[in-house]
Amino acid sequence: MTVRREFCLRVEILRDPDAVADRAVEIIRETIALPAPVLGVATGHTPLPIYERLRELAATGLSFSHLRSFALDEYCGLGPEDAPSYHAFLQQELFGPVGLGPDQWHAPDGLAEPDAEAHRYETAIRDAGGIDLQILGIGRNGHIGFNEPGSAFDSLTRRVTLSEDTKKANKRDFPPGQPVPHEALTMGIGTILRARKLLMVITGETKISALSGAIMGPITPDIPATALRLHPDATILADEAAAVGLPRI
Ligand code: GLP
Repeated sequence: MTVRREFCLRVEILRDPDAVADRAVEIIRETIALPAPVLGVATGHTPLPIYERLRELAATGLSFSHLRSFALDEYCGLGPEDAPSYHAFLQQELFGPVGLGPDQWHAPDGLAEPDAEAHRYETAIRDAGGIDLQILGIGRNGHIGFNEPGSAFDSLTRRVTLSEDTKKANKRDFPPGQPVPHEALTMGIGTILRARKLLMVITGETKISALSGAIMGPITPDIPATALRLHPDATILADEAAAVGLPRI
């Protein structure tokens, strides 16, 4: 029998997405202040206000010159030139504007042979000394990165098949006529749990059930985000809209 230790997950409910982003940036700045920080970053719409603030900080003098960064995931079959790729998203929203050079940040290569690339990426994270702080969003079905329901909690970076639900939700990021890829490369849940700190951001009423599923009820691979409760230093920042119906202390 596997014995899992459940830790106390910190959950902060804040007024709105701006307040969530402000608080997230406070936490991220603690990591950026480390001598050789490694930051894991997520895509999706939820972290966008965070990246906007980091761009503003870079424009007003905060240095990112010593930062190294790893993206959580990427679609198979998409390269940096493809607008809906996560590579392009992160280059445009964060890495380019804050001045991170190509040797400072990494994303899985969606055009490479997926299994070899997954192994290479996992090794690159380990060789960098691991991730100090991993930023996470959450899918409406509770996925983290592209770890869909049913993903093992000890899974490493690998090729995954996207659920119909996820493809439907992410279709908005693709131009009409371009299908959402069926497969992706994602850091595994085990990879994510190895980060020294986890910071998940959850905003908006479409995430009400994802948030309650993540923090209430059993810890189960059926809701990948429940894995955060197995991490000794994990925080969820949620806004009031996502937290409707949660019991308050
Ligand atoms: C994608 C990403 C996830 C992200 C999720 C939610 O599926 N792979 O990392 O958390 O979308 O995105 P949003 O914040 O846009 O709801």
